[in-house]
Amino acid sequence: MIELLEVTKSFDTQPQPAVDHFSLCVQSGETVALLGSSGCGKSTTLKMINRLLDPDSGKILIRGTATTDQDPVLLKRSIGYVIQDAGLFPHWNVFKNVGAVLKLLGEPESVVRKKSQQALEMTQLDPTEFGTRFPEELSGGQRQRVGVARALAFDPDIVLMDEPFSALDGVVRDQIQDLFLDLKSRLKMTTIFVTHDLFEALKMADRIAVMHEGRLEQFGTASELIHQPETEFVKDLFSKPARQLSLFQDIQPGK
Ligand SMILES: Nc1ncnc2c1ncn2[C@@H]1O[C@H](COP(=O)(O)OP(=O)(O)OP(=O)(O)O)[C@@H](O)[C@H]1O
Ligand SMILES: [Mg+2]
Repeated sequence: MIELLEVTKSFDTQPQPAVDHFSLCVQSGETVALLGSSGCGKSTTLKMINRLLDPDSGKILIRGTATTDQDPVLLKRSIGYVIQDAGLFPHWNVFKNVGAVLKLLGEPESVVRKKSQQALEMTQLDPTEFGTRFPEELSGGQRQRVGVARALAFDPDIVLMDEPFSALDGVVRDQIQDLFLDLKSRLKMTTIFVTHDLFEALKMADRIAVMHEGRLEQFGTASELIHQPETEFVKDLFSKPARQLSLFQDIQPGK
């Protein structure tokens, strides 16, 4: 379980907090989407969960213990983290990137190799073909898949993903989303992923946390957000696609 209690974070660059009294409780095995427009505080929230950043106030509990009472290095190594834009080390080949955390955990080379290969296979990248390539020798979508493989390679029970599929085009994006849903149904990790794509949130998440200007607008299932929006912002956000779809429905053959 991941619990955020009234978490607030400000930066010197702007007067209003980037994340403002944000509370959220994610159950074990659940997939939650953090959905909101650019700059609303999604990445900052994710970074505070694995202590890349610390909140100014409020509390974050992971597996029942406050993150501030946990060793930051051990905490980071226990959470699979997919960085926005994949964040691969450019001078390391794919194998070395994917095995990075396993190595830090002190696993023997044979285990690092085996688990890295399995993780690449899970994300449908052939280890023989891609293992020895460097990030610059991959397409944007392949890089993102390596980023996902790296986060899953050490079987974490918690995975945080920051716009993991944003560099992928329609069809490939759809495929890797399906792949992740399939992995998820088998591995059952607790997942928080960031997206500004409403349809991705609807497809992937058990529940969606809608963020706006650092605050939580509403947290609920797709059905709750669509049928019982609690704020004008949520109502507007979810009624837009319905309006767009109705435009298509109005198009009659021959019109
Ligand atoms: N290290 C930092 N120093 C100063 N300001 C920051 C820093 N990181 C983020 N911010 C500011 O905090 C706000 C929230 O940023 P954040 O990266 O969390 O947004 P986001 O929702 O992830 O946006 P995007 O969808 O564009 O990735 C933004 O206004 C941003 O400019
Ligand atoms: Mg971001």
